[in-house]
This record gives sequence, C-alpha cells and structure tokens, in this order.
Amino acid sequence: MKKIILTGDRPTGKLHIGHYVGSLRRRVELQNSGLYDKIFVFEADAQALTDNIENPEKVRQNVIEVALDYLAAGLDPTKTTLFIQSQIPELCELSFYFMDLVSVSRLQRNPTVKTEIQMRGFSGESIPVGFFTYPISQAADIAMFKATTVPAGDDQEPMLEQCREIVRRFNNIYGETLVEPNILLPENAACLRLPGTDGKAKMSKSLGNCIYLSDSADEVNKKVKTMYTDPLHLQVSDPGHLEGNTVFTYLDAFATDEQVARYATDYQTLQEMKDHYTRGGLGDVKCKKLLMAVLQETLEPIRQRRAEYEKDIPAVYEILRKGCEVARAAACETMDEVRRAMKINYFDDRALIEEQALRFSK
Ligand code: TRP
Repeated sequence: MKKIILTGDRPTGKLHIGHYVGSLRRRVELQNSGLYDKIFVFEADAQALTDNIENPEKVRQNVIEVALDYLAAGLDPTKTTLFIQSQIPELCELSFYFMDLVSVSRLQRNPTVKTEIQMRGFSGESIPVGFFTYPISQAADIAMFKATTVPAGDDQEPMLEQCREIVRRFNNIYGETLVEPNILLPENAACLRLPGTDGKAKMSKSLGNCIYLSDSADEVNKKVKTMYTDPLHLQVSDPGHLEGNTVFTYLDAFATDEQVARYATDYQTLQEMKDHYTRGGLGDVKCKKLLMAVLQETLEPIRQRRAEYEKDIPAVYEILRKGCEVARAAACETMDEVRRAMKINYFDDRALIEEQALRFSK
C-alpha cells in the first residue's frame, strides 16, 4: 500500500513556533525523508469559515500568510502538494455521503467539538450545523487523499478516531475503498503543546503570547527577555524550578545538546544546565541568552526564505493554484471509486445501461 501523508491548518493567523515544533518541523523532515509516496499539506479555509462566518476577510488574508510560512519553513512545492480546501469541491461531495454514516450523538461525543462548543459559547442547539459537523468534513479531507499518516497534535486525535470509524463503516457497507489513517504525534511532550511566552496556556494569537515564524530577530529577543520563568527563583543562588518554566520548555522543544555545548560553553548537555539551575547558582538571563541563540539559529533561515518568497507573491499564488490542480486530480480519482462503490456511477457503467435496457425490453 502507498504511504501517503496529509495534514493541514486553518488559515486564521500567521503560524508561530508552537506550530513549528508541533507539526511543521516534522512535516519538512517527513518530506525530505523520501519515505512517502505522496505528501499533501493544505489550508483548511472552509473549516476556518465554520467559525469565522462573519469574517471571511480574515481567512482570505491568512491564506497567503500561511502559504508563506509553509514555504519558509521548508515545505518544497516540488515534493509536497500545497493546496486550499475550498478549491476542491469533491470534498463537499464526500462529506455529504459521510453524513449518512455518523449519528448526532456520535458527533456530540467528540471531545474536541465539545470543548470548542463551550469555548465559543454556543448553547444547546444554537450551534451552526456546519460547525457541528466539521469532524465529518475533516474525515473527508483525510479519506479523500487516502492518507495513511496524519502528522498532527493530540488535539486532533478525536478527529482521527472519528475518521477511522467513518472509513471503516464506509468500507463495510460499500466494500474496501477508503483507507484508515494513523495519527503521527510530535516526538516530545514540550512539542505537543508549546505554552505561550507568558507560561499560561497554549500559544495563541488571542492571548498575545506567541512568537511568530515571521517575527524579526529583535522581536524574538524582546519576547524571550520578558518570558515567564520561575517566580520563586529571585536570586541567582536560589534553587530554580523547571516545571512550568517556559524557558526550559522551549529549550526542550528546540535545543540540541550540540547547540547547548556551542552556545553555553559551561555545559555539554541541556541536562547539565538543568541540574545547575535546580541546584541554584544559574540565573535566568543566561538561560534566556541560550534560548535566544537557539531560536535565532532555527528562525533565521526561515526568515530568509520567507523574504525571498515575499518578493514574488503572484508566484506563491501560482504554487497554490498548481497544488490545487494536483489535489483535485487525486480527489476526482477517489470520487470515481466512491461513486462506483456506492452505485451512483450511472453513466460510467455500460453494463447497468444494457441490463436495464434488457429488463425493459422483456
Ligand atoms: N482541524 C485542523 C486544525 O484545526 C485542521 C485540519 C482540517 C486538518 N482538516 C485536516 C488537520 C485534516 C489534519 C488533517 O488545525
């Protein structure tokens, strides 16, 4: 069986370093590993609209921002198909058939939908149907491209579970047609849910606690300087705490031991530095200096690539347009199989027409 990757993001804001360690970095590695037959990365604009109904301009503006972030991070359009969800009408068609395979109560039990409904303050039955059913549409995104592997954060696990159920049900009823996908989670806990610079919650635009991939070197350094560390670590000599210490969480997510040894020459490994911090005698400023150096080393090539692509924005739209064409061709192939399996391929089926002709001639 072919190994196919599909994953994507809602274009509701520029991508930040939480996206980078949570999925983007991994996608680039997977792309360059040569282990996959096809890789699709897409912008889920139609899904973004399910809860930005009155703000289509926001989505429209961020489609290009996210495309630039993808390219800047190292996604290569000659290896990865970059496309936009809304431009693949076959996704609506597959979602429509998938709706027959899911009950209202099953959707209500989806934990991600549950929390999002609470977060957005929808009460009871005032939820827009499109928002409520987006897991079905997401299952179609994945199944359409026969993805075997979906690199994503653990918040997407319920979506994947629901997708697998739908695919299983489809194949049981109509015969083996679609593929059950597996989620590929980030490798370490720090990457799973990178906290914001305030140490509070997940990095999120509305909380203003993000470091963006497109931030300048100065902006990044400024944000690191004000980062949350350990409120009990008042004097350098005080023992420090690592738990909930955002600087160390970021170091876990970004720094290699080689970098630690290169930038913080007193230590060979991050663990040695952590030990010193917890013993006491290591100040926050030194730790932040290391983090700045490591972040700049990661972000500088990304900034440079972004600047190159920004010089020719029409070419970036062209990359997306071509990606949509490739994705659409793949979607059309799957839909042919789906229609055949569901017995709604009336005009492609000579045997059907002849059989009916025979039946009526008797
Ligand atoms: N729900 C994902 C998010 O909010 C975006 C998304 C839509 C997605 N369809 C997908 C991710 C399919 C992986 C696979 O980020």
